[in-house]
Amino acid sequence: MGSTGGCSLIGDLMAGVQTSAPGSPLHSRTVASEKGIRDVQAPQLGGNGTALPTDLLALLRCLECGATVRVAHLSERPGYPELGPDGRMRCEACGESYPLVAGTARMLPRTMRSRLPIDYPLAREAFQEEPGEDAAASGDRSHDVKQRTADSFAYEWQRFGALREQWRRNFVDYMQPHTPESFAGRLVLDVGTGSGRHAFHAAELGAQVVAVDIGRSIDVARGNLPPAVLTVQADAEHLPFEPGTFDFVMSIGVLHHLPDPQRGLERIVPLARPGGHVHIYLYWVPEHPWHVRVLRLVSAARRVTVRLPHRVLHALCVPLAALLALTVVWPYRVLRRVPRLRRLAGAFPLKTYADYPFGVLVNDQFDRLSAPLERRYTRAEAVAMLREAGLTDVRVLANHGWVGDGRVVDTGPVAPTLPTG
Ligand SMILES: C[S@@+](CC[C@H](N)C(=O)[O-])C[C@H]1O[C@@H](n2cnc3c(N)ncnc32)[C@H](O)[C@@H]1O
Ligand SMILES: [Zn+2]
Repeated sequence: MGSTGGCSLIGDLMAGVQTSAPGSPLHSRTVASEKGIRDVQAPQLGGNGTALPTDLLALLRCLECGATVRVAHLSERPGYPELGPDGRMRCEACGESYPLVAGTARMLPRTMRSRLPIDYPLAREAFQEEPGEDAAASGDRSHDVKQRTADSFAYEWQRFGALREQWRRNFVDYMQPHTPESFAGRLVLDVGTGSGRHAFHAAELGAQVVAVDIGRSIDVARGNLPPAVLTVQADAEHLPFEPGTFDFVMSIGVLHHLPDPQRGLERIVPLARPGGHVHIYLYWVPEHPWHVRVLRLVSAARRVTVRLPHRVLHALCVPLAALLALTVVWPYRVLRRVPRLRRLAGAFPLKTYADYPFGVLVNDQFDRLSAPLERRYTRAEAVAMLREAGLTDVRVLANHGWVGDGRVVDTGPVAPTLPTG
């Protein structure tokens, strides 16, 4: 994403919230009864006493066979107690084992799961039975770029993932035309949650939320989110849920970073129930000639910057952001206060940054220059993408990019099959 979307300020031109008090009291109505989920258990406690959201855990399905996955073991001594419990989960049908690390269910494809013991050396008990599989053996050619994307965003959110008060307004803007009130009671899936900021606000508004990310960003989200939100590390293209599970599936600033965005969308659409909504945000193709020129420059720079070590790129983004602040953002701040110059001020790019701290400007330069893949869409292309994925009532609104929404066709109640003869 680029800006205030980690996603869109620079995303605004060509195109990141810290109430710092994560974990507001949330309703804990169980989804189990509403969704017909059987066998709800008492809350399971990790070694540090952190409760796992058992009702949401019951939604997880095995990546190999689609059967129910259960918590088989919880460690007495979690490696990352500040984030949550470690343990192992097991498929009830085929026996496939999935690690539960630092309060997050790790349901990655085997190729990516094999790196987890290296990433989380303190969670030893979670990995006792991990099957290894290398990328070549799995035939997943997009593995490498997905891992680089995951690592780039993990670096970004680990440094810039603090929740900010401004993200509340940002959430409202990105969710339109859905109102904040409409989130109460919804079962929401957030695909590519990043720091978890949108998941945080959905939960605060009364939704039951499952937040998913492919990379270690998920630990930033886990730290920001209340215990009632289930966090899952998984690939958007291989999600561990049954079709028709969620009322609302959102993926904000994610699809345009996937190797095949249309395929990614078509994998997440079936997870929404008939009549449910799929809600996305995509980068737009700029129309203003001046913006097009800047985008060309940035795209040329990306050929080099996506290959730079994250620390080096981060260091370069500080002076770059300072230059933008001095030449554009701060002058705009001054001009907008002078009534006669307000019109002139209105023509400035990067206006949104005037209301954000400097760190957000740095964040967005990093975001734009680091993600290995990015694609841009016209409004017509965004509409076509949603329709092609089988959605109806498609709406695409401008918000520093395209906010797209569609509904899964509601086929109505299925007529019972009568015995013949
Ligand atoms: C630009 S960030 C957006 C984060 C969040 N949605 C927001 O709006 O603040 C994109 C996120 O998508 C995640 N992501 C990228 N590819 C993914 C994939 N294949 N499956 C799941 N998440 C993915 C990245 O790790 C990153 O955290
Ligand atoms: Zn299985």
